Amino acid sequence: MIHDDIQKVLVTEEEIEKRCVELAQQIEADYKKTGQTPIVVGLLKGSISFMAELIKRFESPIEIDFMKVSSYEGTESIGDIRIDLDMRISAKERPILLVEDIIDTGRTLVEVKKMLKNKGATDVKVVSLLDKPHERAIQADYVGFVVPNEFVVGYGLDYNQKYRNLPYVGVLKPEIYE
Ligand code: XMP
Ligand code: MG
Repeated sequence: MIHDDIQKVLVTEEEIEKRCVELAQQIEADYKKTGQTPIVVGLLKGSISFMAELIKRFESPIEIDFMKVSSYEGTESIGDIRIDLDMRISAKERPILLVEDIIDTGRTLVEVKKMLKNKGATDVKVVSLLDKPHERAIQADYVGFVVPNEFVVGYGLDYNQKYRNLPYVGVLKPEIYE
């Protein structure tokens, strides 16, 4: 069982569910002030569990879409990203709420935000389930939980594509990496 590979649970399923209710209320209230309907855009694959839980708690209409991006590896141009899958809905003149699993250096988000602004989005906000605190250029507008600077898995987050289906966020036993 995948549960056997977990050393400790950092955020439980109950905590995530409760936080999603709070986040959705707060986000919805903020968009209500603008009178606009956001496109909620999940960054694949890590955001899927969080996005599914979060969108259930919105009571106003929203649209959803997805993007998949990856960073160029092995080059000096850190921050450059490649779009593997683009949105289907036009971002032009729309506010966008990006849904991310975790923010580490923030480079991914800086680039995706830039890209969406170039496509004509009027506003790009970010909600991230997890935040690893760092000195960085970008902060999420909404954060579920701050986690220590450790590699975490579960609730969408993977190690070698495994553990995304865990219903909580945890840390793997050290022997899994050996
Ligand atoms: P940056 O550094 O651009 O990266 O903010 C964010 C992306 O890096 C991945 N990431 C992790 N994935 N456990 C994971 O499974 C982690 O602890 C972790 N830290 C960063 C993730 O894909 C995120 O979108
Ligand atoms: Mg990710």
